Amino acid sequence: MGVDTDASIARRLASSAIGALNAQLTAALAGVRAGLDAYREHVVLAQADPRFPAALDRSAHAAGFTTPGELSLLYHLAIAADGPGRIVEIGSYAGRSTIVLAQAAIDTQREPVVAIDPHEVPPMGHTDQRDLHEEFLDNIERAGVSSHVTPVRDYSTNAAANYDGTPIRMHFVDAVHSREAVLEDVGQWAQWFTPDVVAVFDDYLTSPGVRQGIRELQEQGLLRRDGLTVGKMAAFGPPHLLAKAPAAPGGRALMRLKDDRRERLIRLAER
Ligand SMILES: C[S@@+](CC[C@H](N)C(=O)[O-])C[C@H]1O[C@@H](n2cnc3c(N)ncnc32)[C@H](O)[C@@H]1O
Repeated sequence: MGVDTDASIARRLASSAIGALNAQLTAALAGVRAGLDAYREHVVLAQADPRFPAALDRSAHAAGFTTPGELSLLYHLAIAADGPGRIVEIGSYAGRSTIVLAQAAIDTQREPVVAIDPHEVPPMGHTDQRDLHEEFLDNIERAGVSSHVTPVRDYSTNAAANYDGTPIRMHFVDAVHSREAVLEDVGQWAQWFTPDVVAVFDDYLTSPGVRQGIRELQEQGLLRRDGLTVGKMAAFGPPHLLAKAPAAPGGRALMRLKDDRRERLIRLAER
């Protein structure tokens, strides 16, 4: 058994002090990040259209992963994208985003939102065999928007194969957050996009695969390069439509950077 020397005791003390300092810095950084997120969300919501709070309230009972700021992005782009065509949502889960999009369609007297989801996987955190499709239907009914939702219980690929060809003015992708899925969820639908289509992607800031898929779609000319981020979502479309969605500082500037610089910055901020 070794005998502690003064030097080894000093090393142990120093390393535990550094560990404690690191833990404090990490906690402080997490606090700053949470504060900045709350501030950014506040800035977005403070600029909302007066009809948005009611749309947000209607969606509150539905489980989901989208924040009020992100729902604001969906709502404002849905009312801004006022050209011909439908809204298509890929990945509806329990209907939180569907309700907000459908309320935007009601508020602007537009056609129902096509909401595509196979609803095959039980909701996250639930081991019981709840029928998620039933829950989705109940939620849109309870929100009073079922007249403006056309549910399609299927995978995006099958739904595209059976689609009736009506033009699409807004496309919201929130299913599997991988490069391959993003390529499919846009590639198979882009033939129906109107020239002024707005495409929105969840988990843009949190999924490198989503960003890679989007870059490839932009290189293929299927998506515009003009963009905007709110929360973890990103939207791409004509600048005059994106300008109508409230955003927090940096949400527009980030998308004006060159691809490689933007990617480096996002990865730096993740650390
Ligand atoms: C993150 S959740 C959607 C959340 C929802 N947009 C909201 O705001 O609450 C992802 C959903 O995508 C669905 N999904 C997975 N693969 C899909 C596919 N290929 N086509 C359509 N939906 C899919 C899942 O069933 C799941 O309900």
